[in-house]
Amino acid sequence: MTAQLIDGIALSKQLRTEVAQRAAALRAQGIAPGLAVLLVGENPASQVYVRNKVKACEDSGVHSLLERHPATLTEAELLARIDALNNDPTIHGILVQLPLPAHIDAQKVIEAISPAKDVDGFHVASAGALMVGQPGFWPCTPYGCMKMLESIGYDLRGKHAVVIGRSNIVGKPMALMLLQKNATVTICHSATPDLKAMTLLADVVVAAVGKQNVLTADMVKPGAVVIDVGMNRNEDGKLCGDVDFEGVRQVAGYITPVPGGVGPMTITMLLVNTLEAAERSLT
Ligand code: GUN
Repeated sequence: MTAQLIDGIALSKQLRTEVAQRAAALRAQGIAPGLAVLLVGENPASQVYVRNKVKACEDSGVHSLLERHPATLTEAELLARIDALNNDPTIHGILVQLPLPAHIDAQKVIEAISPAKDVDGFHVASAGALMVGQPGFWPCTPYGCMKMLESIGYDLRGKHAVVIGRSNIVGKPMALMLLQKNATVTICHSATPDLKAMTLLADVVVAAVGKQNVLTADMVKPGAVVIDVGMNRNEDGKLCGDVDFEGVRQVAGYITPVPGGVGPMTITMLLVNTLEAAERSLT
């Protein structure tokens, strides 16, 4: 059996077309959806991510405001910028690119963002809303994974989903989203003694560790859906995920590739959240 690919590029394209339509509808009502992206310092990976986010906004008719600040920016100065953007009616979403320089308390900065503009979904109010099933903003990467499952018409009710990784950004919110769709969810992590015993029971596996070959073919139940959130470089410098793609695709029913899988979905869901924030600002 060879797994069917879940194409994150094609799905993103479709969702971004919908975003562009919603953005046009809002503009017709006199509201230009706007996202502020704050970058502090010169982290090379962050610069690429931020550039891609701004480009995605431009392509979808979402106004973007990119603020670049030197690494010497103080925490108080950053908090003051967030306060100004919280009160700026032309800005509906605020994203502070992480990581921040060590002298700035990232959690304090995230908590300073108005929950109504927290399009990254990292604020405790957003995390709490997800936990209790209230409307809020879902973190973009696990939200994108849910959209990928939806795109193949996968019904999670009664299925066993195993999430590998317990980060606040992916693993934990992913588990809650799967639970909300009535899956039985297991979260595995670095202290899990027998990962393979868990993944072999899984109908759905989400690998979100940040390490190559965390999931290999012998660990996958035939026909399972495998979602690879990893973004690693292999020995040859090639982009690869957490999953041994060539091996696992022989066993799984569906699999997301890297690149071209979850990656493009993350930025797409940021656009979706920004549109949602702008639409909510009307009510
Ligand atoms: N750094 C790496 N990924 C992300 C993300 O999704 N959002 C923010 N704000 N920073 C990041």
